[in-house]
Amino acid sequence: MRVLVVGSGAREDALSWRLGQSPSCSALYHAPGNAGTVTRGENLADVGVTDARKLVDRAKAHKIDLVVIGPETAIAAGVGDRLRDAGFAVFGPNRAGGRLETSKIFAKRFMDRHGIPTARFKVVHSLEQGLKALDDWIGGVVVKADGLAAGKGVVVTDDVAGAKTVLRSWYESGVPGGGVDVVLEQRLRGREVSVFAVADGRAMIPVAAACDYKRAGDGDAGPNTGGMGAYSPPANFPPELLAIVRERVVGPTLRGLLAEGEEYRGVLYCGIMWTDTGPAVIEYNARWGDPETQVLMPRVTGDFARYLKSAADGAVEFDAAGLSNDACVGVSLVTKAYPYENTALTGLPARFDLPAGINAFWGTSTRSDDTVSSPGGRVLTIAARASTLDAARSAVYAAIEELKSQFRPGTPLTFRSDIAKLGS
Ligand code: AMP
Ligand code: GLY
Repeated sequence: MRVLVVGSGAREDALSWRLGQSPSCSALYHAPGNAGTVTRGENLADVGVTDARKLVDRAKAHKIDLVVIGPETAIAAGVGDRLRDAGFAVFGPNRAGGRLETSKIFAKRFMDRHGIPTARFKVVHSLEQGLKALDDWIGGVVVKADGLAAGKGVVVTDDVAGAKTVLRSWYESGVPGGGVDVVLEQRLRGREVSVFAVADGRAMIPVAAACDYKRAGDGDAGPNTGGMGAYSPPANFPPELLAIVRERVVGPTLRGLLAEGEEYRGVLYCGIMWTDTGPAVIEYNARWGDPETQVLMPRVTGDFARYLKSAADGAVEFDAAGLSNDACVGVSLVTKAYPYENTALTGLPARFDLPAGINAFWGTSTRSDDTVSSPGGRVLTIAARASTLDAARSAVYAAIEELKSQFRPGTPLTFRSDIAKLGS
């Protein structure tokens, strides 16, 4: 099977790495790919992730059997629709299914229609409406921009005064993502977990769970980022809890999609807050998580390419792949001023000396003459797999210490030191 992976980040590097080891995968292509993916297949470096026409042309030229879509921007651009129209098997939903991620208002109303547990909310379109809606609000408020805002569209506040400050600043200097629609949501308390459900259009089953760390600093201090690390499986998250997510969230979501005529093929990422009354959805994403994928792929067993192809074809073979009981911990190495600004890096080592069980997945990057250049931000995810969470955690931090000596002195990279440290 000839597989094309769409995307350029560490998530896509991890997907490509696992696909490349699948017995049924014979060739790998990446659009545009990165410094990691190019070591195991061809990078179509001139093809952007939203360029549906070029993706269709290249998929034809390279006789692709399966396209795996990484980023939400590709889904929002209708890349899934165009590739399917051209006859390709695609793992990743069409644009309409992607609205569960691309419009928070759509997602909240969808959950309301189908009885899926989520926080109480109000939709507003102007500062005036927003301030008015908050007049009789009780408790904490989460302020969310409606559209895609690259991780900058959500602010969690403690009270109404804090939420009003956010609304004023957004409506004065521009709502993140560029629209005018904002969701005000009741702040929920509990434990967060990311649950991944695989769907073939008719069935949708939660198959894996992970925890990610969005804040820049140790102890969850500092601004939200694209993701500073992750681990899987979540601690104290037995299969019974996944079964509850299936019953209360994933099942009703599938039935809702079917009732609305949506044939969703791909992975649905359910961002869950486990409250006193059970799971509530805080967000849906229409794709694999980043950096969760970097800690899931090392745990995947079996023929992952066949698994994704069968889902893309509409009859998922759930037995084609599985998950090992091992734990995996991933830590993002980021440039120092991230997420405020990105510092471009050149001359990074193209090969690392890593012990068994450790992977280094590249973020957006290019390789030339045995060195790597990165625009900065999330440069690498280092992931370690071991039989226990503690062992995986120790291994990943030991590997990072070791890696430091393989970078030029003064390379401005930093990381969180408390990923998978329970209680933090
Ligand atoms: P999002 O960009 O939707 O992933 O949200 C970013 C983060 O905001 C989530 O990971 C949560 O930590 C937090 N968040 C979002 N919605 C809520 C909510 N209703 N209650 C509490 N925290 C929330
Ligand atoms: N890990 C968060 C995300 O992928 O959106």
